[in-house]
Parts: sequence; structure tokens; C-alpha cells
Amino acid sequence: MCGIVGYVGSQSALEVVMAGLKRLEYRGYDSAGVAVLADGGLAAAKKAGKLVNLEKELGARPLPTGPTGIGHTRWATHGGPTDANAHPHLDNAGRVAVVHNGIIENFAVLRAELAERGHELSSETDTEVVAHLLAEEFSGTADLAEAMRLVCRRLEGAFTLVAVHADEPDVVVGARRNSPLVVGIGEGEAFLASDVAAFIAHTRSAVELGQDQVVELRRDGVTVTGFDGRPAEVRSYHVDWDASAAEKAGYDYFMLKEIAEQPKAVADTLLGRIDAAGSLTLDEVRIGAAELREADKVVIVACGTAFHAGLIAKYAIEHWTRIPCEVELASEFRYRDPILGPRSLVIAISQSGETMDTLMALRHAREQGSKVLAICNTNGSTIPRESDAVLYTHAGPEVAVASTKAFLTQLVACYLVALYLGQVRGTKWADEIRAVIRDLAQISGQVERVLETMEPVRALARSLADKKTVLFLGRHVGYPVALEGALKLKELAYMHAEGFAAGELKHGPIALVEEDLPVVVVVPSPRGRSVLHDKIVSNIQEIRARGARTIVIAEEGDEAVAPYADHLVRIPATPVLLQPLVATVPLQVFACELATARGNEVDQPRNLAKSVTVE
Ligand code: F6R
Repeated sequence: MCGIVGYVGSQSALEVVMAGLKRLEYRGYDSAGVAVLADGGLAAAKKAGKLVNLEKELGARPLPTGPTGIGHTRWATHGGPTDANAHPHLDNAGRVAVVHNGIIENFAVLRAELAERGHELSSETDTEVVAHLLAEEFSGTADLAEAMRLVCRRLEGAFTLVAVHADEPDVVVGARRNSPLVVGIGEGEAFLASDVAAFIAHTRSAVELGQDQVVELRRDGVTVTGFDGRPAEVRSYHVDWDASAAEKAGYDYFMLKEIAEQPKAVADTLLGRIDAAGSLTLDEVRIGAAELREADKVVIVACGTAFHAGLIAKYAIEHWTRIPCEVELASEFRYRDPILGPRSLVIAISQSGETMDTLMALRHAREQGSKVLAICNTNGSTIPRESDAVLYTHAGPEVAVASTKAFLTQLVACYLVALYLGQVRGTKWADEIRAVIRDLAQISGQVERVLETMEPVRALARSLADKKTVLFLGRHVGYPVALEGALKLKELAYMHAEGFAAGELKHGPIALVEEDLPVVVVVPSPRGRSVLHDKIVSNIQEIRARGARTIVIAEEGDEAVAPYADHLVRIPATPVLLQPLVATVPLQVFACELATARGNEVDQPRNLAKSVTVE
């Protein structure tokens, strides 16, 4: 949430910062702003709305060029999305500018203190207090990094702060507590950003910042300390994707590109998982075999789409390992005093690795002595850093706010963890594991085939553009798929969409069914657990009898369901537990096309932001 960029070097800071903000706009698009240091002073511009509004403003009133600058794209928390509340915020003398991601919880007290000392604050934000506090501390220290350390020690909450001061024209200072901030090191230039995407066009050499650290950026290097001023250890790493991975590559939307990348993302996440002896190897899972054997339950915590991946994982974990598995929304889990101990294995699933609800849940779990395994798509992000072990998904950067390829790779990672637990605990034979891995290896091609047959789904979506409600039904692993289909439609098409367990319909929701209501039904494979298939066929008949228009997602060769489908979407036959990997894809395409038909912003749906760094 909120995108931050800082730059010092020899290029025009304004150009570098604006290009970086473009890459970070997925993090928030309520307003945007920049500040540059030039000619001994500080110049700033900011505008409510998307970055394009700021671009227009800069076109009309250009800023002077200078080599040091900062920028921000906002997802509003304190104060509405107005020009005044947009970042950067300045002190009264206009010498210091600051941008912020997170929430400063004690801002009201600090604001009152500042007012007493004669400061005039002009916005409704929590951020503005920092600009004023920095100005005060700088007047005593003449050192922006030291001023930042002093201010940070007085702040409560979660924050990434980046600031410049006109009296230190070659310096950008950043601070981090709980919200993301990475450093990019170039030749005679340095960058700060919420995400490497902001500077990947300039350098792939990055430095991770830890909690409660302050970084001072100069052209010739960076200095990192704790809030207490002691030098800090940092980890450097090489970003293993390049600028083209964060481009639309000819697609109208990132979401379309990311849907199309799913076959590769799935295949990449499976790469190198079987060793020469044919066993599953998850080297990254640095939790000892003895501990995994002794685990008496698995608890999965996650939010949104990642939570749906967790719901599906439960079926595989319990079926393959016979360990009880609970799945919980991270935001609920953290504050209900969950029963955890050293024998609980907690799995935290997060694409961004920065979701605050999930982070708080994992911290709580570790405090109770549980081991935490992260499944994450973002190298060096906070959730894997704070976990005992991490299994990275290899989806590549996901830019569209609505998650697609990350979801499929989270599922692959969950299946791998479930198999690994089965291997370590001896509940799965080696040849059974290899058979599932072979099935997983087929999925990439099967997703490819689904993608090749999506035109009728797009046409159907366009024909439903004026509908108000769509329901989604599923059973077994198809139930979380239904929830995911509904979530995609809500967030992209702004339609009322709900997912239900098909068997639950008769206990209330069936009252919603009326003439011509579109109902999407994810049909379990007729093989394997055919009892589920028979039951859902009955459920389809029940809703059709009440006038529903049925959109049925069913395996190739499933003829029994065909007579009850007003629209039939075929997916390749897979083993029962793996079906979500193919069944979700038509639902993503459906939601994306419906959103486009309704004229919505596909990559940046209203009110949302990727990477939700507030609780
Ligand atoms: C929905 C979506 C969100 C995220 C959720 C968790 O399309 O993207 O529901 O899944 O905010 O985000 P991560 O996975 O980054 O923790």
C-alpha cells in the first residue's frame, strides 16, 4: 500500500522518480506527488487522483531539475484523497519533504504537541507530523539521518518514511518499521523504493533493509543503522528478473499478461523439486524432519486470494498426511487467542510478503513457539524474513492488483509442502509422490489448453455486463475455487458475487435464486470421488428448477452434467485434488472480461491496492 521512490545520482531525479512511480502505481492510486532538491531549495508538486493527474500538473507547472528527489503514490488511510492530503508533506519553512507508507498510530498526540510549539499543519494525514518533527530535529543536528533516527524513536505504528532536506542536497534518507523498503545500488547513484520494480530499469543490485533501520543514500554509497544509531548488518541480493518482466508486453492490461503467464509460472514453481534419487527436495524448508514429524497440526494463515489457496491446501494436507489442518483469515486468527504451541506448524501464504495481517499472525505464532513456513512470491520481503523457512513461488512480478498467477503458484507450493510432509512423515510412498509430481508437471500444458479455449467465456462475460449478481458454487476443492471466482468478480467488476459450498445452498442462499440469475458451478471430476459429482449434478438441477442460468465448469468427457448446463466450459481432466489449478483459470478470464465490458480499470480496481500493509 502506497508506493515510495527516492533517488540520488546524476540523472534528473524527477524523471527517475516519475518512472518509478509508474511502476508502483499498483500499490495505490488515490493521489501522487514528488519533491526535488534544486538550486539550494526544495520544489514539490502533488495531485489527487492517478499519476496522470500529476503528470498534467507537471506539464503545466514544471519543477526545476535536480539530481535528488522523492515520490509517492497513495492509498489513503488518514484523510481523503485530496491534493492537500497527497504526499510529500513539507514543514512550515518548506525545507524538508517526506513521503510515508503505513500508519503512525500516535500522530494525534504528536500533532497536538507540534501545534503547541507553533507549527501549522495543513492536511488531515498522520504523515505531516513527521515533516515537522524532522525539521525540528534537523535544526539541532544538521544531519537528516540522525534527525530521522530521533523522530522514528518517537513514532508508534508501521511506517516506511523517505525524506529529503534542502540543506543536505545530496542525501535521501529512508526508515523502515514493518512496511517494505528496498535499496537499489547503481553506478554513482542509489535508489529507495517500496518494491524493486521501481528501479529495475536502472539496477538489479538490491539491499534488503531490516526492521527499525534507517538508511542514508548518497551517490557513492549507502549507510544503514538501527534507530539507535548502531551500524546494521544488511543483506545484498541480485534481482533475478529484469525490466521486461514488469512491462505489459503488448497486452492491454497486466492482468491479461499475468493470466497468460500462468503455464510458465506453474512450471517454474515446480522446477528442480525432485533430486537424483527421485525424492522430493525442498531445500528451502529449513525446518528439521524431526520437527515436521512431530507436528500435531498445521495452521494456514493468509488473506484474500492467498487464503483461498490455503483452503484448497487443507484438502491435500489432510488427505495426504492425515495431520489436522486449520485455515484461517490472518486478521481473525491474530486476535482470537488461537491455540498454538511448539508442535504446531504454521504456514503463512502471501504473494507480496508484506501483508500486515499475515505478518502479525506469523509473529504471534512464533511468540507461541510454533515454527512458521512462508509461501511467498517476493524475495527478501518481510514475511519470509521473519519466518523459520520459506518456499518461494516463481510467478515473477505480479503487478495487476487482482491476483492470478500468484494464486496458481501458491497452490503448486501448497501441494509440494503437503507431499513433503507426506514424505517426511511416511504417509506417502515415494512412487505415490512421484506420480503426483508427474500430474503436477502436466498442469502447465493443461492451463495452456484452457487459455486457448477462452473466447466463448469472454463472449459470455460480455453478455452479462448488465447483471447485478452472479453466484458461484462448488464442492470439495471446488468450493474455494467458487470463493475465488466470486472474489475476482467483486474486485474487478464491482458486482455482487458470492461463492457457496453447493451443499449449503439449500440451507438459505437458494432463496437468492431467481429467473435468469447467472450461477457458475465448478463441477468435481466424475472420476475418483464420483459421489460428489452426483451431488452437484442434483444441486444444478435444483437451481435450474428455480430459473437460474447455469454456467458449468466441467471436465472434458463429463457428459452427465451437459444436459443441465446453459453454458458449458470445458477444462482438462486432472486428479481430483489438482482440479483448482485448471478450474480457476476460466473464472479469472470471466471476471477480467466482465470488468472490461463494464468499463472498469482492470489493473487498478477502485478502493484497492496491492500489498496491504495496514491492519
Ligand atoms: C485478490 C488479492 C488479494 C490478496 C490479499 C493477500 O485478487 O489480490 O485478496 O490475495 O490481499 O495478499 P498477499 O498474497 O500479498 O498477502
